[in-house]
Parts: sequence; structure tokens; C-alpha cells
Amino acid sequence: MARVFITRSLPFPAVAELAERHDVDVWEGELPPPPDQLRARAADADALLTMVTDRVDAALFDAAPNLRVVANLAVGSDNIDLDEARRRGIPVGVTPGVLTEATADLAFALILAAARRLPQAAEAVRRGEWRTWEPAGFLGLELHGATLAVVGAGRIGQAVARRARAFGMEVIEVRSADPLEPALERADVVSLHTPLTPQTRHLIDAAALRRMKPTAILVNTARGGVVDQDALIEALHAGTIAAAALDVTDPEPLPADHPLLRAPNVLVVPHIGSATGRTRARMAEMAVANIEAGLAGEPLPHPV
Ligand code: GLV
Repeated sequence: MARVFITRSLPFPAVAELAERHDVDVWEGELPPPPDQLRARAADADALLTMVTDRVDAALFDAAPNLRVVANLAVGSDNIDLDEARRRGIPVGVTPGVLTEATADLAFALILAAARRLPQAAEAVRRGEWRTWEPAGFLGLELHGATLAVVGAGRIGQAVARRARAFGMEVIEVRSADPLEPALERADVVSLHTPLTPQTRHLIDAAALRRMKPTAILVNTARGGVVDQDALIEALHAGTIAAAALDVTDPEPLPADHPLLRAPNVLVVPHIGSATGRTRARMAEMAVANIEAGLAGEPLPHPV
């Protein structure tokens, strides 16, 4: 029986089945294990099932000498030091594909919410400010005929592009080799779908924001670090762009008193791109399959 440490409670059938086959230890907290606790609990683990909230680095690998596989419950892997894992011959698995549609749905929900100013309109109703039908109240952006720049045209980006075309939008897909600026200049909505790498960190900086239209909306369901958040806050205050809708921030969680939340026309949700019951259950299945393969010394079915 191998020893598996899971860094959060995962109420999904695949994990219950894993516990029938192996000695599974589950972190009991609602918050992620602090790094020292993670190291202590991983000390005798053969396999780790980690979340995007866990930093998997050299110190953790040092603390877990028996480790044979890391399965991240995410499509992204920027929480893991992959060079260090490779150096030590520890395979790392992720959960691609199964969260594409759920994440694209969330990106599109953010696009619609920001375009039609849903947070502001709902808040006005809650404050008792709905006095009459307003001929020029809450005027938003009509998506039909508008232009969407999809920055990072991988699986999720293309799923967002498909939704946009069905809404009658013109879509510009920006791949890593393509110049970003012309797309930023033309787009009414810019939606980010790149992984976070040294090349994409602060891809959307002050200069990029200045290229965007003053009426444009920035949507980020990728990683907070892809946007220079200080520059974004300034751009929202200055009216350089019209609005931002974000599922990811830097840092996460975003403190309730963070200046980003005081910027005008910003909508922030707490990293819920893949948060549907079906998707999370399928992510757990893939993570468990990665663990079983890693423990058996076989190639992972879903390697990073
Ligand atoms: C979530 O952000 C993921 O990478 O799956």
C-alpha cells in the first residue's frame, strides 16, 4: 500500500476509490496547509495530490524523499517547480481538457457581466435606487458586432472564441508568436488565456493597457500574474480602459481591503473557472489516474 497525501478534502468518488487501494492521508483544514505543515505531512508520502494553492518546490521535495509522483488538481502547473521535479525524476501530472468548457463558460459570464454592467445594475437595485425605467441608464457594450481578442488560443481560448462567434462577435486569436498590440488596439474585449510563464508575466502592463480602447473590457481567467495589477488599477482609475472582470488576481486570495477592489468598474470572483461539480469530479479522476500510474512506475496519462 502506497502512502498518498492529499492537500485538501476532495469529496469526489475517484478519491474515495483511491482510499480503498492506498493509505490516503487528507489535510483536514479548510485552508491550504502552510508550507511547514505540507512538508511535515508529505515526509513519508509516495504520492502527492496538490492544489494550485500549494507551492511544490525543492524544500518540499527534500522533505519527501519517497515521493514518486505529484498530481496537481489543475490544468496549470505554475505552483510547481517543474525544473526541480524533472531534476529529481519525479513525474508531474495535471488535468487538461476536462475543465475547458467550464472555464470558457466562466470567461464568457465575466464578459457578459462586464459588458452589460450587471454588478453595477444589481447593486443599484439592492440599494433601492431602481426608481423607474431609465432611457439612458446602465448603457453597456453590445457583444453582437463587437471584437474579442483571445490572448492565448489554446483549448480554453478557442472554447471562448467559439462562444464569441455564436454571439456574433468578431474574434482575433493571438498566439504566442503573434504581435499583441494590433489586437489590443482593435478589441472591445480582451480575454486572457495564456499560462503564466516568465514570458507572459505582466504581459498586460501599463503600455499594453494604453494600447487598448478607453471603452474596452479586460477579462482574466488565466493567472493573476499575467496582468500588472498596479498598472491595471491605475488604468481603471484613469479611464484608460472601461472595465475589468477577473477570476484570478495577484495575490490570491485578494485581501478585502486591496486597492483593486476600490477601482471603478472592476468585478472579481474567487478563482472559480473550473468550479462545476462535473468538472471537479473529472479533474479528481484524472489526478487519481496520474497518481496510480506514477506509483506503478508507468508514464502518466496526463503529464504536465
Ligand atoms: C486552475 O486555475 C487550473 O489551472 O486548473
